[in-house]
Amino acid sequence: MKKTEQIEQWSGEFGKQYTDRNCMTLEEMENLWIGNYGFTRSHMNEIFLRSIPLDVKILEVGSNIGNQLLCLQKAGFTNLYGVELQAYAVEIAKSRTKNINIIRGSAFDIPYKDGYFDIVFTSGLLIHIAPQDINAVFDEIYRCSKRFIWGAEYYCDQYINVPYREQNALMWKGDFSRMYRERFRNLQLVREEFMKYLTNDNVDAMYFLEKK
Ligand SMILES: C[S@@+](CC[C@H](N)C(=O)[O-])C[C@H]1O[C@@H](n2cnc3c(N)ncnc32)[C@H](O)[C@@H]1O
Repeated sequence: MKKTEQIEQWSGEFGKQYTDRNCMTLEEMENLWIGNYGFTRSHMNEIFLRSIPLDVKILEVGSNIGNQLLCLQKAGFTNLYGVELQAYAVEIAKSRTKNINIIRGSAFDIPYKDGYFDIVFTSGLLIHIAPQDINAVFDEIYRCSKRFIWGAEYYCDQYINVPYREQNALMWKGDFSRMYRERFRNLQLVREEFMKYLTNDNVDAMYFLEKK
């Protein structure tokens, strides 16, 4: 498995502490979204996925304890998979989900064959990949998706470092939808929505890309 400074952090105490903070019920996650943006994650998922059949194969890369996958399951999606670096998070994910296939693995080496999924998505994963590694992760996500790439990530029109928990090599924000499309010319933007925080100037973007 590829080793990076970020992987070391997520695999250790820093990752465990994140996972413990992230241990919330679906209802708590929805309330967090309402507090952050004024609407729920389910609301955004419905806007982006309303025309997608419920039995399509969907993979989340960096699924942590499975909150996003549980939210999709609640919406009726039946064919859900997660890949997560941290053994600790995978163990918790397995204990709190049913009929969701969450396994340990890395975004640099997704353990599935080419085009295995209809949709591959990330939610707060790309922002934690260092600039020198981001194309390798884009390539893996693109490789595993037959048709769609979906994401919700911290947005900025420039790709820049953001200090995170007093560290300088753990978070970057950017226009990830544009970066994907610059790398893969056959990716088209189906939809993008910007989600401004209610209490500060930060913006997250949710985007949906299709291979044409
Ligand atoms: C900010 S959390 C987001 C968790 C989840 N997507 C959510 O929305 O609740 C980032 C997750 O990605 C995982 N991660 C970080 N780097 C990874 C990598 N290279 N491959 C797989 N997972 C990774 C971390 O362990 C962590 O669980």
